[in-house]
Amino acid sequence: TLKAVILVGGPSRGTRFRPLSLDVPKPLFPVAGEAVIYHHLSALSQLPDLKEVLLIGFFEDNVFAPFLQRAATQFPNLNIQYLREYQSLGTAGGIYHFRDKILEGEPQQFFVLHVDIACPFPLTDMIQAHMKHRGICTMLGTKVSREQATKYGCLVANPDNNEVLHYVEKPDAFISDLISCGVYLFDRSVMNELQKAKARKDSHQDDTDVVASSDQRLRLEQDVLRPLSQDHKLYVHVTERPWRQIKTAGSAVGANAVYLEHLAKTSPEKLYKSSEGGPEIDGAVFIDPSAKIDPTAKIGPNVSIGPRVQIGKGVRIKDAIILDGVQIGMGSCILHSVVGWNSKVGAWARVEGSPIADPNIAMMENGVKSQSITILGKEVSVKDEIIIRNCIVLPHKELKYSYHSEILM
Ligand code: GDD
Ligand code: GTP
Repeated sequence: TLKAVILVGGPSRGTRFRPLSLDVPKPLFPVAGEAVIYHHLSALSQLPDLKEVLLIGFFEDNVFAPFLQRAATQFPNLNIQYLREYQSLGTAGGIYHFRDKILEGEPQQFFVLHVDIACPFPLTDMIQAHMKHRGICTMLGTKVSREQATKYGCLVANPDNNEVLHYVEKPDAFISDLISCGVYLFDRSVMNELQKAKARKDSHQDDTDVVASSDQRLRLEQDVLRPLSQDHKLYVHVTERPWRQIKTAGSAVGANAVYLEHLAKTSPEKLYKSSEGGPEIDGAVFIDPSAKIDPTAKIGPNVSIGPRVQIGKGVRIKDAIILDGVQIGMGSCILHSVVGWNSKVGAWARVEGSPIADPNIAMMENGVKSQSITILGKEVSVKDEIIIRNCIVLPHKELKYSYHSEILM
């Protein structure tokens, strides 16, 4: 049998997700109408041999309770539990700490999924790839542009058998455009490798090398995967499918696009269908059934609209996430933006960002860091005819003037 672990992290992380993470932890932020982590569970629930999913992180216990209650009915074939680290143990520390729990029931293999990514999770392909070699781990890899590569784990693989020859976490200089997606399939025997890695760490504890000994957290990347590749036990399955990392609030817009396009292919019934007398819909769009959209509005592509949202006449929305309870007045235009809970946008206003390939990478404008996706925090109010371009707006702000490329606190 199979199991899965989702590394959900904890509250001191993901601060780049501000101002939106102030109200909901990143794993629960909605993309394509569902929490980020829902999409992981949805992919895992397709695997007939997989019955148990363990979420490991250092959030308070009650953070996931309401979500898990709902998930139990949405995924009746999965037993989903949250296991809490008493403090951040690192990307491998929690797996090591909860090893007995993971190995309970003797799964032959288990998946490990980072929570802060979006992709169609080609898990079956990974299982097949894993059976073709004698390695301990098959990791999911994807190609990214040269400029982006160094902010990920980079790998060089043998094209003939997909063995990972070199693995370097966030190298200083370019080594490869093939990167780790944060999805792994491990043999149960990897626990021995974790044990060894832990022993190596502990033996350095008294080192005079402050940098090495200051952080006792066990890192999957440097402490486990790298030694695995040196032992010829690490393999990669390269996917051509879309993949995005979700670090900043702006990157949720890209993740939204990945899942809306995936739903369009796999479960189009979950998307909004244009109908006579309804708003004009362009491309893949999710609209919560409780939202009220004026029929003269034009929505899409890549738009998710949450519960109880109200959208006025002639409104145009494209490439955006509109969260619960937002109101948008007549004639307004929302492009490349995230509009936070219960925000109000007046009439003939514009809330606008810029489309870019990777919203995790800051854009430079005249030598100044500029925000590509505009973010309105919760309960922001934008007055009539105001233009907000490339801004981050913190919660509860009332905007009576137009702003461009600013962080509004
Ligand atoms: N349980 C737990 N405990 N989870 C953690 C901890 C921890 O102490 N620290 C991080 N995580 C979770 C995060 O929530 C996230 O899902 C995942 O582990 C990786 O987060 P980071 O440690 O911030 O790494 P990263 O995202 O910068 O880079 C990693 O992911 C990239 C793909 O998105 C690396 O594995 C890269 O090699 C990889 O390319
Ligand atoms: P990640 O997205 O998780 O990589 O964080 P970040 O790079 O956005 O972190 P940032 O540079 O904003 O903050 C640096 C560090 O400050 C964090 O890693 C935390 O250790 C600490 N920090 C910031 N905000 C908080 C917070 O709300 N709670 C706690 N406990 N620590 C915080």
